[in-house]
Amino acid sequence: MDFSEFSGFLTNRASVREYGKEPVTDEEIRFILDCASTAPSAGNLEAWDVVLVTDEDTRLELQEAAFGQEHIGKAPLVIVVCANYIRSMAHYGERGILYAVQDATIAGTYLMLAAHARNLHSCWTGAFVEEDVKKMLGLPQHIRPVALLAIGKGTMPPSLTERMAVAEHVHYGQW
Ligand SMILES: Cc1cc2nc3c(=O)[nH]c(=O)nc-3n(C[C@H](O)[C@H](O)[C@H](O)COP(=O)(O)O)c2cc1C
Repeated sequence: MDFSEFSGFLTNRASVREYGKEPVTDEEIRFILDCASTAPSAGNLEAWDVVLVTDEDTRLELQEAAFGQEHIGKAPLVIVVCANYIRSMAHYGERGILYAVQDATIAGTYLMLAAHARNLHSCWTGAFVEEDVKKMLGLPQHIRPVALLAIGKGTMPPSLTERMAVAEHVHYGQW
């Protein structure tokens, strides 16, 4: 892939919130997870884990925990991306909390882009009640759910969103 293909790949991704019923195949899931496992992480400790949710009742429970957002219930696959505090804090102490969240966020981004590479659609979902998700999935205390990544085959072409001018983000040398 050359740089213009890479930039086209990125700009053609957009969040999709309507999916068909077709399941994400085991082979696609395997591909997506293998891609995530290439993500960088603090100290190479990979302080992230995922819970794969395909069962409809559980997806509907997750939807409720996500303030009723229907794409969570509709997506054939929801990947609950988690930070694993113990894996990181055992080495980095308090700083490990931040590193675990960063590790999980990067791994989640890889999952999202890997889904895009397989012509699947997704929606990163951050608005949910953490305690409800922890309880329903039996997450141990040191596991923090960071995002619900809804994945499926979109029923509509994604609509691309606008971005701020890059210059608005950039500060040279000092703020
Ligand atoms: C941290 C984060 C939290 C988000 N939470 C939600 C959410 O709860 N519900 C939702 O529908 N989309 C959510 N999104 C998706 C954003 O709305 C979307 O990425 C943004 O509008 C840009 O659109 P695009 O993904 O189509 O490029 C979230 C994205 C991020 C990165």
